Amino acid sequence: MGAYQQTYQRSLDDPEGFWAEVAEAIHWDKKWDKVLDDSGAPEYHWFAGGKLNTCYNAVDRHVEAGFGDQLALVYDSPATGKQRSYTYAELQDQVARLAGVLAEKGVGKGDRVIVYMPMIPEAAFSMLACARLGAIHSVVFGGFAANELAVRITDAAPKAVLTASCGIEPGRVIAYKPLLDQAIEMAECKPDFCLLLQRPQEAASMIPGRDLDWEECMATATAHGCVSVEATDPLYILYTSGTTGEPKGVVRDNGGHAVALTWSMRNIYDVQPGDVYWAASDVGWVVGHSYIVYAPLFNRNTTILFEGKPVGTPDAGVFWRVIEEHKVNVLFTAPTAFRAIKKEDPDGTFIKKYDISSLRSLFLAGERSDPATLEWAEEKLAVPVVDHWWQTETGWAICANCLGLEQFPTLHGSAGKPVPGWNLQVLDESGKQVESDKIGALVVKLPLPPGAFPTLWNAPKRWYQAYMAEYPGYYLTADAGMIDANGYAHVMSRTDDIINVAGHRLSTGGMEEVLAGHPDVAECAVMGVADEMKGQVPLGLLVLKSGVDRNPDDVVAEVVALVRERIGPVAAFKKAVVVNRLPKTRSGKILRGTMRKIADSEPWKMPATIDDPAILREIGDSLRTIGYAGDK
Ligand code: COA
Ligand code: AMP
Repeated sequence: MGAYQQTYQRSLDDPEGFWAEVAEAIHWDKKWDKVLDDSGAPEYHWFAGGKLNTCYNAVDRHVEAGFGDQLALVYDSPATGKQRSYTYAELQDQVARLAGVLAEKGVGKGDRVIVYMPMIPEAAFSMLACARLGAIHSVVFGGFAANELAVRITDAAPKAVLTASCGIEPGRVIAYKPLLDQAIEMAECKPDFCLLLQRPQEAASMIPGRDLDWEECMATATAHGCVSVEATDPLYILYTSGTTGEPKGVVRDNGGHAVALTWSMRNIYDVQPGDVYWAASDVGWVVGHSYIVYAPLFNRNTTILFEGKPVGTPDAGVFWRVIEEHKVNVLFTAPTAFRAIKKEDPDGTFIKKYDISSLRSLFLAGERSDPATLEWAEEKLAVPVVDHWWQTETGWAICANCLGLEQFPTLHGSAGKPVPGWNLQVLDESGKQVESDKIGALVVKLPLPPGAFPTLWNAPKRWYQAYMAEYPGYYLTADAGMIDANGYAHVMSRTDDIINVAGHRLSTGGMEEVLAGHPDVAECAVMGVADEMKGQVPLGLLVLKSGVDRNPDDVVAEVVALVRERIGPVAAFKKAVVVNRLPKTRSGKILRGTMRKIADSEPWKMPATIDDPAILREIGDSLRTIGYAGDK
């Protein structure tokens, strides 16, 4: 048996023994009473009774061990033409003083703090400062609209919001402050204060008595120490798309998270302390939480915080420039970033201009990796390219090629084999395990390993219904797929209405709620159709109310603007078409799956339950008017 198989088997046969050993790698203020508390099953808690501080494990511990001069964080911003770097000692100073500012204003253990920040070092400082105090951070991605921010403020009821005056997107500056002010206005709970970093690209106006200036507060701040918290206390809430417009607040605890992520760096990514690790994502997503901020710092790596895009800032060579300049050893990004680079530079001309010899491997996640992109990356970079599968809920990879354990041959189209800790199975509708190579629901037998979410914030019933109810004893991933005869997992598609647009997770149900709110729309459907660069993009179908005789193009333009205004530009909702009616089953369910196949020109069968077959022909005709449903 190889190292992978041995470790995997051990993690399933004796999870408590396995994780208790792994947990020795981090610093505990007090050891746990119980490795796994299963008294509330299916809600499990790892390292119950243990006490620690996440920020201490990410920062202070390394300074105390004599690594204060090692680079902890490098900020590389082609968006602004700036770079800054922080050693572990400098990071400790920034974070301890920021924690001091927050503590002085009354933020303490268990309080929520919203972080609404672009990709700047202060975003990472904010997360770590909260962790230092035992406060619970909730980072909101900058590409969301005020309404989405408001929903998160209402649900998290934060004591404070940490923000910056603006974010920078190619060709435009996004003023954050008006969005924040609007969101606070809309939210049912108001924060006590907002701490705002003024960036030179855009000055924000401040509301006296509520808004505080970051630099001013930091100038007089006193350092605050690390507050010991329970391993089972929440570290953060990260809202992610659910099947409705109401986002799900995924909760991450402190102990299991630190243990699992530290293990993942060595065993999945094969990264040793001192290595340079770059996750080209955004702190607003789970990849940013786990692999820009926490895991590399737990493992004493240098992490790269990149404010730019794979193309256009300034060109398709920027990834290689960053690798050369900072001697990046491991890169992690979404396949869409590579599709964008490949489109601009198919021959890899830019790659040849830089010395990328420090790079040992590339990891891809966030959406399915199409084999063509994967092969291109393998050929051009000449390093192992690993597709691995995970979710906001899981916090780290369910399947991968664990390079630190034992590298197995890559199988294009597969996201690798189950990672130790994850008892992945494929079940049919009746809950029976299906044979190899047969598609079914991808589920994980409980308990989930440390680092996975214990629950949803403020929504234990929703947590149970969404993830635990369908197959008792298993976590429902809501991905469909299969495991082949050699143990490789293949993740095919979501079983709910989530789509992945440029690696960003979005709910078509949420978009439908926005479209349905337009005064002229009687009925609507949104589906994710194939897109060469973004993997998927949303496409809307609208039925107008009877008597509405407006130009359909005007209504389409209005709903496109409405989604941008309510959900945000990140939804990338740009296409919709007005149709006479929507195809439904006899019980009234809209046939989104069949329409998607028609739009993508895939083979489809007339559903036996359809109430009127002629509608699908009409839908095909309408889709052709906007460039879909062509003949293949
Ligand atoms: N703040 C404000 N607006 C944002 C934003 C942010 N943080 N991030 C994206 N947006 C906007 C974009 O400007 C764009 O607006 P537009 O409609 O006016 O052009 C819109 O949201 C859609 O963004 P995106 O889907 O990212 O498309 P893009 O065309 O700007 O870039 C890629 C395409 C492929 C370059 C880009 O998606 C990318 O770098 N992807 C990497 C994948 C990634 O980081 N995934 C995260 C999970 S690992
Ligand atoms: P998120 O919660 O944003 O990380 O999105 C999680 C979803 O993205 C998963 O449920 C999958 O549908 C999809 N996903 C992530 N990684 C992969 C992958 N490697 N292969 C296929 N789908 C993936």
